[in-house]
Amino acid sequence: MIRIVCGKTEQEASVAAANVMADVIKSKSNAVIGLATGSSPINMYKELIRMYEAGEISFKNVKSVNLDEYVGLAPDHDQSYAYFMNENLFKSVDIDKANTNLPSGLAEAECKRYDAVIESMGGVDIQLLGIGNNGHIGFNEPDTHFPKTTSLVELTDSTIDANSRFFASRELVPTKAISMGIGQIMKADKILLVAFGKGKSEILEKAFFGPVTPEVPASVLQFFKGEVVVCADEAALSVIKEKHPEAI
Ligand code: F6R
Repeated sequence: MIRIVCGKTEQEASVAAANVMADVIKSKSNAVIGLATGSSPINMYKELIRMYEAGEISFKNVKSVNLDEYVGLAPDHDQSYAYFMNENLFKSVDIDKANTNLPSGLAEAECKRYDAVIESMGGVDIQLLGIGNNGHIGFNEPDTHFPKTTSLVELTDSTIDANSRFFASRELVPTKAISMGIGQIMKADKILLVAFGKGKSEILEKAFFGPVTPEVPASVLQFFKGEVVVCADEAALSVIKEKHPEAI
């Protein structure tokens, strides 16, 4: 089931998303949370930090697994996703760093190790996702199949273009990444997807109302067994609102 929550602004939708995540953590203090990077979750993480500082939630016994990491970037590289997570969430809350997991952008044979890490969690309670302009979730790019497990991914030109905004030049953007598989994402108990801005409006409509196809990886979420909560702003939902007004 897909539940769309429309915020007037990115901030309002991010607070709604933080509440969905916080409810899981409040109901299960040792929850396993699947996390994402990129621009979309930043305000949601800020709200989770505010809730932690206000004593509303604690991450003390929470475990986390992140979706992905660039190949070739060490955790202390300022564009690595390990660095991002530390800066945007981990360093500001009481999570035990030993309970946080990301694929390593450097290790060989990392996919198998990360599959074992995910398996050892015994199930992800809530998986946070952003969505790429091309419909990717994690770094599972448009393809002929849905990857089941962690894989080494060649990033598409459109993803490299989109992510070059964080690097000094396009040439510095890694061309490969390690990503949790779609099969693993689909095993979570709940999915929380955040998307903001007009740029995401076409792909959100395709993902949730178009055909289910590995060419639009996020479309697989239409087959998700549990609840998919989409927290987005009006701009990101504009095409859905126009074509499927009953959905919002
Ligand atoms: C990040 C990730 C990606 C992003 C997506 C959207 O961990 O897995 O799928 O969620 O590329 O990125 P933003 O939020 O920067 O638009």
